[in-house]
Amino acid sequence: MSTDEILMKAPLFSALDPESAAALRASITEIELSKGQTVFSEGEEGDRLYVVLEGKIKLARTSSDGRENLLSVLGPGEMFGELSLFDPRPRTASAIALTHVRLAGLGHDDLRPWLTGRPEVAVHLLRALAQRLRRTNDVIADLVFSDVPGRVAKQLLDLADRFGTKTEDGVRVHHDLTQEELAQLVGASRETVNKALADFAQRGWLRIEAKAVVILDRDRLHHRSR
Ligand code: CMP
Repeated sequence: MSTDEILMKAPLFSALDPESAAALRASITEIELSKGQTVFSEGEEGDRLYVVLEGKIKLARTSSDGRENLLSVLGPGEMFGELSLFDPRPRTASAIALTHVRLAGLGHDDLRPWLTGRPEVAVHLLRALAQRLRRTNDVIADLVFSDVPGRVAKQLLDLADRFGTKTEDGVRVHHDLTQEELAQLVGASRETVNKALADFAQRGWLRIEAKAVVILDRDRLHHRSR
């Protein structure tokens, strides 16, 4: 997909006619990062938001004793760094490249006139925020009500919806996460997450590959995630 096609999928641009989208696009700077590089760190002042054009980004928070929690993994067309636009306070999470990434960066100052001048842009951004709040509520409920295997199943299905590609026998989810990072995304220890994955593999629901899984029985996994 071309840069323009990906941008048009992002909440900011999908509200605009081609002429306005081209005008907004003129304020964009493209940034490339290699795997492991940091876009910004939790606690820093933030003055721009980003749309992923290529590759994957992880959003991570670190606890006071050094443990990490992954809020999300984002791919092409997804946006981050907008909270400090609406509420000018420090970044609530760090953004780190999981793969080689290409990002479109847009300064908050360049964006503000669009929010006030074009209500549809604001509405699309609010919708994206509402979707994130819904998803976050689901994650909180799962942390309270679901066991670790249930949460692993749910995360894998979510990653499959966003990053899955069809194979002969199922759907390959190339998540680009280490075992440790997958555990941080699920919110459990690496050992417990690995045990759940091994159990699913033994039942024939999935196959484990390096930084990927192939989902072989979506229905059973879905049933286990509820
Ligand atoms: P900001 O606080 O500017 O920088 C960190 C970004 O992470 C934040 O904006 C959001 O874009 C993103 N973010 C924060 N919390 C979540 C969450 N729960 N789910 C997905 N993305 C989030």
